[in-house]
Amino acid sequence: MTDLYAVLGNPIAQSQSPYIHSEFAKQTQQNMSYQTILAPVDQFEETLRTFIKKGAKGANITAPFKEQAYALCDELSELAQLAGAVNTLTFTEDGKIYGDNTDGVGLVNDLETQFGPLKDKHVLLIGAGGAARGCILPILQHHVAQLVICNRTHEKAQQLQTLFCDYGNFFAKPIEEIQSPFDLVINSTSAGLSGQLISLPSVIIDETTDCYDMTYSQHTTVFNQWAKDQNAHQTADGLGMLVGQAAKSFNLWRGVTPDTDPVMEKLRQSLAQKVSS
Ligand code: ATR
Repeated sequence: MTDLYAVLGNPIAQSQSPYIHSEFAKQTQQNMSYQTILAPVDQFEETLRTFIKKGAKGANITAPFKEQAYALCDELSELAQLAGAVNTLTFTEDGKIYGDNTDGVGLVNDLETQFGPLKDKHVLLIGAGGAARGCILPILQHHVAQLVICNRTHEKAQQLQTLFCDYGNFFAKPIEEIQSPFDLVINSTSAGLSGQLISLPSVIIDETTDCYDMTYSQHTTVFNQWAKDQNAHQTADGLGMLVGQAAKSFNLWRGVTPDTDPVMEKLRQSLAQKVSS
């Protein structure tokens, strides 16, 4: 029997998840199907419950439903509880919904692949929305020397400080108060999705700073281009995080860990083809 999975979001046509999971399934010989489901913005719960009734085994949840999905879960992982949002649901035999958040694990795995161990690094996280919140605990668990969070709306960064300050050296700071460079700067804001460049002081970057943009695109992202212009050491975009969070979801569902490298390579090629065509 083919096990049924899907990703629910709105919009959803752009999602790479069906491709990624079908590649993982081929690679690990799992008998499963994975589709996209466009949930109307005001009918997320109905859409999800209809999918569960079909006998589905699990689902990924993407924008704008991660918080709503969190509220529907019967059980949550510690990461999901603290993130206040879930991207991975598992439907149990006894009809329960188990929620997890694999975004942060996807991010830290990719950060360490691209830039080496996080341990003892001074890290700046820009943005304090859902994307940032899901990643704070996994970063702190990797024993960074310090994690500073900056956000346009400083109060939101302060709220996250209150929530996570017991888990490591983590604090909020207004961006204009930063006076020295970091080892690693992570952009979690959604500004780049609409081509906007966030206003940042060049002092946060020197020639040893690595920069990571959680968004990705066929071109260098706006944030990474700015970082390159400041002579940052290395830059990477969020494609690895996307594939990494999918690999962790796949592992939760199927109990096997897929190899992410060949899938990353194929996705990069297909993005490059979109540029040239
Ligand atoms: P996500 O779930 O992708 O994190 P979100 O919860 O809407 O989305 O959060 C978006 C983040 O990007 C916020 O930190 C937001 O800053 P505010 O809290 O001040 O709104 C940030 N952001 C979006 N556009 C921005 C811009 N032009 N300049 C600076 N920050 C921006």
